[in-house]
Amino acid sequence: MRASSRPILTFGKSVAADSRCVQSVLMSIDVAVFPASDEATAREAIQVDRAAFEYQTPDIPYSPEDFVLESWRNPFPGHRSIRAVARLDGRAVGYVALGLPLLDNLELASLDLNVLPDFRRRGVGRAMLDFAIEQARAEGRKHLTSETVQTRPDGDAFAAAQGAKAALPETRSRLDLTTVDQDRYDRMLAEAWTHADGYRVVSWVGMPAEEYLDAIAYLDGRMVQDAPMGDLTIEPEKVDADRIRKSEQNRLDRGIDRFHTGVVHEATGRMVAWTTLSGPPALETHIWQHITIVDPDHRGHRLGMIVKLENLRHTLAHKPALTAIDTFNATANDFMLSINREMGFRAADTWMQWELAI
Ligand SMILES: CC(C)(COP(=O)(O)OP(=O)(O)OC[C@H]1O[C@@H](n2cnc3c(N)ncnc32)[C@H](O)[C@@H]1OP(=O)(O)O)[C@@H](O)C(=O)NCCC(=O)NCCS
Repeated sequence: MRASSRPILTFGKSVAADSRCVQSVLMSIDVAVFPASDEATAREAIQVDRAAFEYQTPDIPYSPEDFVLESWRNPFPGHRSIRAVARLDGRAVGYVALGLPLLDNLELASLDLNVLPDFRRRGVGRAMLDFAIEQARAEGRKHLTSETVQTRPDGDAFAAAQGAKAALPETRSRLDLTTVDQDRYDRMLAEAWTHADGYRVVSWVGMPAEEYLDAIAYLDGRMVQDAPMGDLTIEPEKVDADRIRKSEQNRLDRGIDRFHTGVVHEATGRMVAWTTLSGPPALETHIWQHITIVDPDHRGHRLGMIVKLENLRHTLAHKPALTAIDTFNATANDFMLSINREMGFRAADTWMQWELAI
């Protein structure tokens, strides 16, 4: 389907500032949807995505192309995506993806918008945004969210120019594992355990044991209410055991490495804290720190620190070549950031989550 096709005139910029404008040029921007089964176009989109990603965060390895393709072919349960490529005079220079939650947050669509660095400021981003707004409205969505890295000026400038609201400042932090002092970690862990009588840890890879699924669903569903969400219009996800099972199965099917550790309250047998490190198996040296949550009824026992340190040890036993872990937190999330800092994570860059009412 051709979603949008419009000629634009690049007029009026100074010749000195921009040699593309030595003469006015009629350029045609086409934004066209493609299904994940259209491998040739999907691979063109991945090239655009990869170039934009490596330009903005050169220190994070881009996932292997086949892995990305596989994840597009196997949508995450409860989510649907609409993807399109923008062509400038026939050449793929932009990639846009609209993420549509199907089980909750039915008025929201997440937006991923990328233009090749050498083809920016020619209206491609705006053409893709127009396309995304049109698609999102047709799906009954009322606002778009998207994130920008602040080490490059383009994303923030674009979002602000489109009238989006800066809704949630975030920090990406990195733990450089080559500098980690294991003895210090052992001492930190021993000290933390002196506050956690009556708890024990359980670590696993991939699918959680059936007996913990309800508790994990409860913890997962709390994330939106427990972590700072700034001015984002977002509702808690409706998570149950079946959704956890299907989500984890989807990740297993895509071959994602996922290492989990939970803390069990011995008196009740309930899992009350949980954290995860995960990433594509082909990336031997890099992994992402995801969800870390402690049940509000069990806070104050250093379970956040325990679960993260234990999970790191568990993960390194499976992936000994790891050298870096990255994680995102709301910049206002003092509690999580202070645990991260104590573990040795350091701020790598800052991000902004934007929201645009449509
Ligand atoms: C943001 C991005 C998609 C914009 O793509 P683009 O094709 O350059 O955008 P456009 O040419 O349509 O720009 C539209 C307007 O945004 C503003 N803008 C975009 N980049 C800007 C910059 N670096 N400085 C100042 N204003 C900028 C301008 O108002 C511009 O209009 P103008 O060129 O007529 O002045 C592109 O920079 C990108 O891929 N960035 C990395 C990923 C990202 O941050 N995505 C955005 C998520 S909201």
